[in-house]
Amino acid sequence: MVHARKLSIYVTRAVPEDALAFLRSQPDVGLVTVNPLERPLTPSELRAALAPHDGALVLLTDRIDAGVLEAAPRLRALGCVSVGTDNVDLEAARSHGVSVANTPDVLTDATADFAFALLLAASRRLVEADALVRAGKFPPWAPLFHLGLDLTGRTLGLVGAGRIGQAVERRARGFGLRVLYWARSTKPGLDAVGARRVELDELLRESDFVSLHVALTPETRHLIDARRLALMKPTAVLVNTARGAVVDEAALVAALRAGKLAAAGLDVFEDEPRLAPGLAELGNVVLAPHVASATHGTRSAMALLAARGCLAALRGEKPATWVPGSAWPPRAVS
Ligand code: DGY
Repeated sequence: MVHARKLSIYVTRAVPEDALAFLRSQPDVGLVTVNPLERPLTPSELRAALAPHDGALVLLTDRIDAGVLEAAPRLRALGCVSVGTDNVDLEAARSHGVSVANTPDVLTDATADFAFALLLAASRRLVEADALVRAGKFPPWAPLFHLGLDLTGRTLGLVGAGRIGQAVERRARGFGLRVLYWARSTKPGLDAVGARRVELDELLRESDFVSLHVALTPETRHLIDARRLALMKPTAVLVNTARGAVVDEAALVAALRAGKLAAAGLDVFEDEPRLAPGLAELGNVVLAPHVASATHGTRSAMALLAARGCLAALRGEKPATWVPGSAWPPRAVS
């Protein structure tokens, strides 16, 4: 498609080079500008940065609210380099005529792998074990030393059973885990392999491992609160690779500290990069800095998909990864 004026696209943080090369190779793209700073932009820097551009690749650390969109009169399309879009006010995007695309599918396996890595690390106390060896505290082999939890024959509860939840189920089968799931609708693919859909409270009561895979929405904020944590077995492990605010983090710290829960593996936090007071002091948690999708291949695929989604929308073609609730079609070129 030929444009009278070439497109200008802003990228709020350095992304893998092939996504930038793709954008720069497009005949209708005139300018691709990447934030040169090695940190996310502040809200006022973000407003200023997006203002002159037609499209932008944004990250989950960028809060795209009405104020940002108001300050960007030319902006018509966003490509989120994430599957989660809770950082974008979709209603404001719709009212400002801004299309939003995201990155489903391409990060499913990497994220499911990491959820399983956290489950294993928390259950087998892997980080503690590593620290002992490094500290020169390698005791003689002993039958009662450093005991962890068995997986085979135990129950895994999936809170949310979309693409990533289902990928975790595939891994769980290999470990001989029985799977329960909580989802808005029945998943025939899961039922066919013996997983059972149950109510959330029942899942929490029965599971030995609970892994969270729901998007953050007003309905799922603090879905796992003090009452629900109290339903879990004191021997259970909680894994969160979804969004931190799905869990009441202060209540989780209290439950872990009181021994009402055996352990947790967390990649996401309520107020990243800050942690709830006391969380980092607990020995029974494995903590990661929101890196579940961080593999070379996955991050390249995410950036490329976000770039394609942003560009398609700017060309007037609805992206396959368009996020419902955002604008379609985008506003006219000003
Ligand atoms: C996402 O995509 O939403 C993850 O949190 C980062 O990969």
